[in-house]
Amino acid sequence: MSIDISTLRNDTPACADLIHFNNAGAALAPLAVTEAVLTHLANEQRLGGYEAANLAEGQINNFYDAFAQLLACEVSEIAYAENATHAWNSLFNAIPFAAGDIILTGQSEYASNFLALLHMAKRQGVKIDVIPNDHTGIIDLEQLEAAINPRVKLIALTHTPSQSGVIHPAAKVGELARAHNILYLLDACQSAGQIDLNVDELGCDMLTGTGRKYLRGPRGTGFLYMRRSSMSKLEPACVDLHSANWISANTYEFRDDARRFENWECYVAGKIGLGVAVDYALKIGMPAIESRVGELGAALRETLGTIAGVNVHEHGEPLSGIVTFSKKGIAAASLQEGLRAKGMNTSVARLASNQLDLVKRGLGDINRASIHYYNTHEEIERFCQMVAKF
Ligand SMILES: Cc1ncc(COP(=O)(O)O)c(C=O)c1O
Repeated sequence: MSIDISTLRNDTPACADLIHFNNAGAALAPLAVTEAVLTHLANEQRLGGYEAANLAEGQINNFYDAFAQLLACEVSEIAYAENATHAWNSLFNAIPFAAGDIILTGQSEYASNFLALLHMAKRQGVKIDVIPNDHTGIIDLEQLEAAINPRVKLIALTHTPSQSGVIHPAAKVGELARAHNILYLLDACQSAGQIDLNVDELGCDMLTGTGRKYLRGPRGTGFLYMRRSSMSKLEPACVDLHSANWISANTYEFRDDARRFENWECYVAGKIGLGVAVDYALKIGMPAIESRVGELGAALRETLGTIAGVNVHEHGEPLSGIVTFSKKGIAAASLQEGLRAKGMNTSVARLASNQLDLVKRGLGDINRASIHYYNTHEEIERFCQMVAKF
C-alpha cells in the first residue's frame, strides 16, 4: 500500500476535528489499533483475563513478529516493555558497571536517560562524558571518537531528540562503537515509526522505544531490542517467573532471549494493540512514511519561517517531523494553550527537562509542533495562519 492520505485520515477519525501536531507526545491511533485494544478488553470482561489471553495467543505473538520486521532483527531479540523509559532502564541497569567506567552520551540525550546516568554515577562511581553537538546540531563525531578509550563501557545516544528536529547519525556512532567493541544503547523513542530502522545498519546492541508516539500504538506500551550476540554482556537487574526458570530450590536460569527483560504481568490489550500499530505502519511502508514525514516537516519549517517574529530552531539535513520554534512576545505555554483552544494540538519542550541541550543552545521553553504522515499541507497552512495571529 502506498500513502493514500484520505484513507489514512478516515482511519483516524479525530483528523476531522483536530489539527494534531503533537505526534511526538502521543500520536492519534488508527481505528484498527483502538478496536484491537477494546476487543481484547471486552474479551477479558467476558471470559476472564487469563482465558482471554489464551484466546489471543496469536495476536500476542504477533507483537514480536511485527517488531522483528520493523527493526529487521530476530523475533527472539524483541521484548515488550511498559514504556520507553522502563525499556531503556532495564537494559542500562543490566550492564555490569564498575567504578571508573566511562559512559559517552550526547548533548541531546533524553532527560530520564540522563537522570539514570547521573544515578548510576552516584551509585557505582561511573563517569559521564557528554559529547557536544556540532554547529548543525548533531553529535560531533570527531569529538566522540576522540573521547573513546579503554574505560568506555557504553555509548548511549538518543536518535531523534524530543526537543529538536535533528536526527543524529546513529549508524556512524554504531560504526565507532563496533570498531572499539563498546556497548551501544540507542533510544529510538522518537524515531521508531517515523524513520525506517534497521538494527544491523544502526550497529546498536540495544534499542528502545515507546508505543504511543510515531508508532501510533496505545499509551502504556513500549518495546526493546537486544542483539543476541550481546546478551552475554548483560545481566537483567530484575527477575521473575517469566524472565527466568526456577530450576531447583536455589537455582534459576534466565530465558535465552530478549524476553528475559519482560515482566510476567503486562497490559495484554496494549501489547496486542501495539502489534497492530506496527503492522499498520509496515503495510504503509516505512520508507514511504519517512519521506512523507520529512516532506511535511520541511514544509512546516518553511512556512513558519515566513511568519514575522517566528524563529525556527533547527536547520540543516536530515530533519525529523519534530519542528521547534518560538514566537517573539508570547510565552511557549501561552501559544500552546491558545492553539489548543483553536483545536490545534502542539506541545512545549521545557528548559527544566532539557538542562543540557536547551541551556547550551541558549533557549528557554520552546514550542514543538510534531507532524505525522496523516497530517496535510492544508493543515500546515491553517496552523501557520493561526500562529501568525497570536
Ligand atoms: C527521546 C525520548 N526518549 C524516551 C522517552 C520516554 O518515553 P516513555 O514516556 O514512553 O517512557 C521520550 C518521551 O518523550 C522521548 O522523547
